[in-house]
Amino acid sequence: MADTLTITDNRTGKQYEVPVTEGTIRATDLRQIKTAPEDPGLATYDPAFMNTSACRSRITYIDGDKGILEYRGYPIEQLAEHSNYLETAYLILFGELPTDAQLKTWITDITLHTMVHENIKKLMEGFQYDAHPMGVLISTIAAFSTFYPDAKAIFDEQSRKKQIHRLIAKVPSIAAYAYRHSIGRPYVYPDNDLSFTGNFLNMLFKMTELKYKANPVLERALDVLFILHADHEQNCSTSAMRGIGSSHVDPYSAMAGAAAALYGPLHGGANEAVLRMLNEIGSVSKVPDFIKKVKSGEGSKLMGFGHRVYKSYDPRAKVIKKIADLVFAVTGKNPLLEIALELERIALQDDYFVTRKLYPNVDFYSGLIYQAMGFPVEMFPVLFAIPRTAGWVAQWEEMLLDTEQKIARPRQIYTGPVHRDYVPRDKRS
Ligand code: ACO
Repeated sequence: MADTLTITDNRTGKQYEVPVTEGTIRATDLRQIKTAPEDPGLATYDPAFMNTSACRSRITYIDGDKGILEYRGYPIEQLAEHSNYLETAYLILFGELPTDAQLKTWITDITLHTMVHENIKKLMEGFQYDAHPMGVLISTIAAFSTFYPDAKAIFDEQSRKKQIHRLIAKVPSIAAYAYRHSIGRPYVYPDNDLSFTGNFLNMLFKMTELKYKANPVLERALDVLFILHADHEQNCSTSAMRGIGSSHVDPYSAMAGAAAALYGPLHGGANEAVLRMLNEIGSVSKVPDFIKKVKSGEGSKLMGFGHRVYKSYDPRAKVIKKIADLVFAVTGKNPLLEIALELERIALQDDYFVTRKLYPNVDFYSGLIYQAMGFPVEMFPVLFAIPRTAGWVAQWEEMLLDTEQKIARPRQIYTGPVHRDYVPRDKRS
């Protein structure tokens, strides 16, 4: 059997044969299908990219029906159990798990870049005390491009490497600054004796003690959450990173756009929305009524449920549910947990959710953990952006080095008026 697709154009009676490779046909192969020489050729219409592959990628594999997520072939469950965030970030970027020596060098490379320029602090001081930390983060990432003009050399491997180190290292620092600013506490400088996640907690929560030491259970839990969020193939924010980066702008400007995409409540802002929803429901007894409203369309969506790709339980949500128990053993149970468990219990047996294959996603339980650890809800999307930095920069670099890629430019079906002559203002009705 040939790996081809035969297409009969019933408008002309002509037949075409196009190659099928890796389960796809090339959209440009359809251009030869024309009704007349001046016809631009057949195109596909795919709002929201429901069925279009925009790249070939070696980074992250997802099987949404089976609930499988792998970075470079390694199952997320194994990475969550055995790896740490920086090692996983290395894997995502370089394709292989590091040797001991490679990991040591990588950790040093990142650690040496955790400080931010003092003027960045001044820039951040300009925000209102109640500025949403995600807005502060997005603006500050964009501002980095003015501090590191060398980042424009995107086809210089060494320059790319440096910007990648800077981004992975500095995003936690500005995230922590944004948080401290919002609560009116002085900034805490990075402590390079600590782990990546331990230092982040230090910059967030250090008070007057000489040396901050995070609770090891909470430090490990946050590190695992970082592993789970490190990449997720061609989601909304990663597509933004690739799309903006395809114009060959510097990675800071591209990543500010990616972080902005993440901010939305349908994407990384969902964990914040889940907490607000649980607070709004208020008690377990009100869950059935809330579900009724979701189903009738009268209320909002059930936040933290559903996914474009996963049509079964999100494998990240399974790991998070286990971490939640460890965290709550230290912090005490989050009182909203009972409401979340009841929502899940009812939704998983309800026909509306079952037939639409709506299951808890990564954001359903992560917010409960973040809240128990002392983070305000506004910080939740920021906690998503920190680890996703590794995925964004890996996908950006893969896009740049892919010889098939060009500036991203979708087509449209124009539905407006075709041609009309300008009407002077006094002649308009
Ligand atoms: N609650 C209630 N109904 C839902 C939900 C939900 N959370 N999600 C989807 N549906 C319904 C839709 O209304 C639609 O119903 P219909 O067929 O009767 O019209 C059907 O399920 C299919 O949903 P779509 O909107 O077509 O699915 P899509 O793939 O476009 O959306 C999305 C995926 C955006 C994640 C959606 O499920 C959603 O809004 N969920 C809530 C927000 C959320 O948790 N986002 C986080 C995603 S994970 C992440 O980004 C990290």
